[in-house]
Amino acid sequence: MGTGANTPFKDAENAALFRMLVATAVDGIIVIDALGTVRLYNSACESLFGYGPEEVLGRNIRMLMPAPYREEHDGYIDAYHRTGERKIIGIGREVFGQNKDGSTFPMYLSVGEGMFENERVFVGIIHDTTERHVAAARLREVQGELVHVSRMNEMGQMTSALAHELNQPLTAIMNYIRAAQRTIAALDDPAVVRARDLMEKAADQTGRAGQIIKRLRDFVEKREAIRAEEDLNRTIEEAIALALVGASDTNVKVVVDFDRGIPPVVMDRIQIQQVILNLVRNAVEALQDVARRELTIATRSDEPDYVHASFADTGPGLPDEVSSRLFQPFVTTKEKGMGIGLSICQSIVEAHGGRLWAVPNEGGGTVFHFRLPIAGL
Ligand SMILES: Nc1ncnc2c1ncn2[C@@H]1O[C@H](COP(=O)(O)OP(=O)(O)OP(=O)(O)O)[C@@H](O)[C@H]1O
Ligand SMILES: [Mg+2]
Repeated sequence: MGTGANTPFKDAENAALFRMLVATAVDGIIVIDALGTVRLYNSACESLFGYGPEEVLGRNIRMLMPAPYREEHDGYIDAYHRTGERKIIGIGREVFGQNKDGSTFPMYLSVGEGMFENERVFVGIIHDTTERHVAAARLREVQGELVHVSRMNEMGQMTSALAHELNQPLTAIMNYIRAAQRTIAALDDPAVVRARDLMEKAADQTGRAGQIIKRLRDFVEKREAIRAEEDLNRTIEEAIALALVGASDTNVKVVVDFDRGIPPVVMDRIQIQQVILNLVRNAVEALQDVARRELTIATRSDEPDYVHASFADTGPGLPDEVSSRLFQPFVTTKEKGMGIGLSICQSIVEAHGGRLWAVPNEGGGTVFHFRLPIAGL
């Protein structure tokens, strides 16, 4: 038989080799004829589709497909025979398969075309992509959670800052009203009595504005933290993946130097990922202006009760005007920055009983460090 493979073997050996290949392949291999009838069905297919070979051989391939492909498949083959239009033949694409138990699973199917004993046949190679989809879904989920927390955090920070800013003029308004009321307290002209009444109303409303701000502040600051034992390395890996989404054109080389032996930490994973995300984003942003763009992320447990993470960049270093106020809200040197990234990071790390700090990187750049207590708070 012509295997089309370049082997030094004789025909009998080739036949054995062929059987061995088909039997041991991890991916599914199916051969169908021009009518869609299954002629070969390897053992990997049995675990993918749940059918034994005796149930599939000689039957139409569409039994392995979920609707609507099941109904459309004969049409595809017909169209190909008539027009030569290729939907999938010669290429490959992501499709769905259907298991005997009715469940469907995503798979990557590539189809080749050949001749066997003067008959046209199609060879399909099937790779189960469930794992990849699960990983992608997990990534999307984490991303969604983070965006949510990030918004809540930003809202919290803004509300706190706003409340602080608004309380001062509100207090001043209240003081002026009280002073005015005292000034006219002794007068009993009807117009003055009316004015006193109006001022009392103004005072009430001012008090109410203060209450609204206070309630808003209570509300945003009240998100329950969810603490659990987590692996800091894994937490960082996930966060890096997220931080670099959409940053692929920034050309930053990320070097990871993890101590795989660090103990688990009690933490709110989403919040700590928020910290990592902010630090990585800052580093990537700082690296845009320099030629050597490297970010080294390391973990250690060199103190008895803490784990330690560091983010060392080769950027321009901290600007003088911010370094003394680095962790205060609304301190920024960026045109589009809010200046709240680091203040959020600091409050999260401190709420975990940890500490966040920055030092110059030897040879230029900045290193942000944080440490978290192993037992949590
Ligand atoms: N890795 C770094 N290298 C150099 N400067 C940095 C670095 N990280 C932070 N900075 C400086 O600290 C400032 C404050 O950072 P922070 O994350 O709090 O706010 P931001 O990045 O400006 O805005 P936001 O995070 O709210 O979008 C930045 O504007 C920048 O000047
Ligand atoms: Mg920032």
